[in-house]
Amino acid sequence: MRTQVAIIGAGPAGVLLSHLLAAEGVDSVVLDTRSEEYVASRIRAGILEQSTVDLLRDVGLGERLGREGDRHRGIHLQWPGERHHLDFVDLVGRSVWVYGQTEVQKDLVDAAHARGQQLVHEVSDTALHDLATDRPSVTFTDADGVPQRLEADVVAGCDGSFGPSRGAVPEGVRRTWARTYPYSWLGILADVAPSTDELIYAWHPDGFALHSMRSSTVSRFYLQVPNGTDLADWPDDRIWDGLATRLGHGQDGWRLATGAITDRSVLPMRSFVQQPMRHGRLFLAGDAAHIVPPTGAKGLNLAVADVALLAPALVALLAGDHALADAYSATALRRVWRCTHFSWWMTTMLHAGDDPFDRELQLAQLRWVVSSEAGAAGLAENYAGLPIGF
Ligand code: FAD
Ligand code: DHB
Repeated sequence: MRTQVAIIGAGPAGVLLSHLLAAEGVDSVVLDTRSEEYVASRIRAGILEQSTVDLLRDVGLGERLGREGDRHRGIHLQWPGERHHLDFVDLVGRSVWVYGQTEVQKDLVDAAHARGQQLVHEVSDTALHDLATDRPSVTFTDADGVPQRLEADVVAGCDGSFGPSRGAVPEGVRRTWARTYPYSWLGILADVAPSTDELIYAWHPDGFALHSMRSSTVSRFYLQVPNGTDLADWPDDRIWDGLATRLGHGQDGWRLATGAITDRSVLPMRSFVQQPMRHGRLFLAGDAAHIVPPTGAKGLNLAVADVALLAPALVALLAGDHALADAYSATALRRVWRCTHFSWWMTTMLHAGDDPFDRELQLAQLRWVVSSEAGAAGLAENYAGLPIGF
């Protein structure tokens, strides 16, 4: 098999890259270890920032998002006894949208099928070769067990945190940074109308809680839990009691409505960056190059921002102009580190630990964010997202 761009990973980064390349007449083949149905049903991110929405609209992927996405002006930030609304539109003139990653993925895959994009699912043994030459290739075993070689001009590593692409950058070339946090999130999806108009991020001595949503009938919640938490120790009643306490059920008459839990999982929290994001003819994008803890709602948005830079760089490279490709890693990493800092800052501000001094610092920081226009605007600017190309 031969194509111009071999894309490893059919998550949002990989399929969006194939979409942007196709719009410029560049061929690609997308490979994934999982089935299309599996990738489509993974419950992950829920919030799109302004620049992500603008990009999806600009490239013809905004129709259902416009109809079904819910535009939010801001978020609520709270701690026991107090809830404050931050209005991003007033603060920085930008907003965010509630539109799940499952929906973004569905729109991307529908568009891919409509244009006849080659999406090759259920591959195994993916390996990258000859990245330092102009004729790199990817070998894999297809769903029928037949070994295949995909030759390309360029390889895009969009294979998330567990794929082989980041490890294909030689050890002496790559540099990595990592932080594991001493807590995880227990996430649930529930068939119940949201009890809030906009998301609630809650600091509480028992641990952080987040009230998010997917639609007018489906809510998404997260609870801070210790690392190594077993879901079996969290029956439904314990989850709802924890959410009610931490989100302030009964505070100023606010009530948390409960419903049937349809999905539950425990997510570890990690920061990770690998640079450079390019090695020879291999370009990394999305979770393949960096992971943020989810508190700032940045993971999916960062993957989209990488690909928005990478697509024009590859189009130019294939036409013989190297400048954008040469600048890709440094340009992308500016935003990556900004979002890495913001996600770390939101995470460490909102997750209570045992240290009483740290707790007072967290509360002092939260009070400053909601009472100072500069503090609120700083959070808003980062949460609602910096422009593409920042
Ligand atoms: P992925 O979506 O991970 O896609 C990578 C693809 O590569 C996958 O489909 C995988 O099957 C494929 N792949 C892996 N190995 C191979 C291989 N060897 N060969 C071929 N293909 C391969 N972000 C938020 O902002 N908010 C959230 O609430 C949130 N929740 C999350 C929950 C979970 C459980 C996880 C894992 C992530 C969550 N994220 C969240 C992060 C967000 O979902 C990711 O940042 C986003 O999916 C990144 O997109 P991506 O395309 O780079 O990677
Ligand atoms: C969601 C996830 C987040 O990490 C976040 O900060 C906001 C919302 C969500 O899944 O809805």
